[in-house]
Amino acid sequence: MTVLEAIKLSTEFLTRKGLESPRLNAESLLAHVLSLPRMGLYLNFERELTQAEVEASRELLRRRGQREPLQLILGTTSFCGFEIAVTRDALIPRPETELLAEAAWTWLRDREPGSGSNREASVVLDWGTGTGCIAIAIARHCPEAVIHAIDISPAALDLARHNAAQNTVLERIHLAVGNGFVAVPEGVRFDLVVSNPPYIATGDIEDLEPEVRNHDPATALDGGLDGLEIYRQLAAQTEVYLKPGGRIMLEFGDGQADPLREIFTRQNWIVEGVKQDYTQRPRILIASRMDTNG
Ligand SMILES: C[S@@+](CC[C@H](N)C(=O)[O-])C[C@H]1O[C@@H](n2cnc3c(N)ncnc32)[C@H](O)[C@@H]1O
Repeated sequence: MTVLEAIKLSTEFLTRKGLESPRLNAESLLAHVLSLPRMGLYLNFERELTQAEVEASRELLRRRGQREPLQLILGTTSFCGFEIAVTRDALIPRPETELLAEAAWTWLRDREPGSGSNREASVVLDWGTGTGCIAIAIARHCPEAVIHAIDISPAALDLARHNAAQNTVLERIHLAVGNGFVAVPEGVRFDLVVSNPPYIATGDIEDLEPEVRNHDPATALDGGLDGLEIYRQLAAQTEVYLKPGGRIMLEFGDGQADPLREIFTRQNWIVEGVKQDYTQRPRILIASRMDTNG
């Protein structure tokens, strides 16, 4: 079987399984087996596959056909252009979260130099770091920043540690395990608290795509009865950990913009803005404290 024939057969198989973008999936899996960049397949269409390559491809296709996420099968994904290892221990980073990371590093870099707390290196908290993707992207874009990355899952933190080391920013990312702010070292205060917390209502989890429902850890998805539980905690607890003039930036899900505004406003936050994602859906809340603003 040639590379081109394998791509066609695999695409047909994944189409029958009901996957979106079956050809892209088929090519990505075959490129992985052949240790080629995906575009390298196009230069090798006539190449004959060995028996071992056919069998390896078949196994990966079987897994993808059972709706195991492509990134999990490949063991890696790209986040803001940085390579992030993925396992079943943490949420697979999503494209919309790249906007949150970008909003964070843009704000940190744009702050007026030389004023107030900005004389010192910025200190950031990544609440619920998972793979470490947000912390790593901020650290890479803000070479002076120090980031505390916390998570309730020790296995996720191990993965975040590995990813931070691979992206050469481990010395500026302090990892700690614990339930929310309990993991923050005594006395540390932040210029920015950033989080993509679990925000799916418990009852909606069973309706998610199988790739998400069966493979992302429940602790990364479950936001309580109405999906807003962690936001209530963040609105109530973050204040004491913020430096004057600090910000909170949070990703949230569909339909949560209005309830979030209300939750934060009621807790004396000023909502500075809500950013939309690539599909024009409101996705990121940016807020500061009424009493420490400026
Ligand atoms: C939606 S995932 C986000 C992971 C990563 N930041 C990202 O954007 O891809 C939420 C993360 O919050 C963590 N988490 C959930 N509850 C937590 C808690 N009470 N304290 C600390 N971390 C928590 C989960 O383990 C998970 O890694």
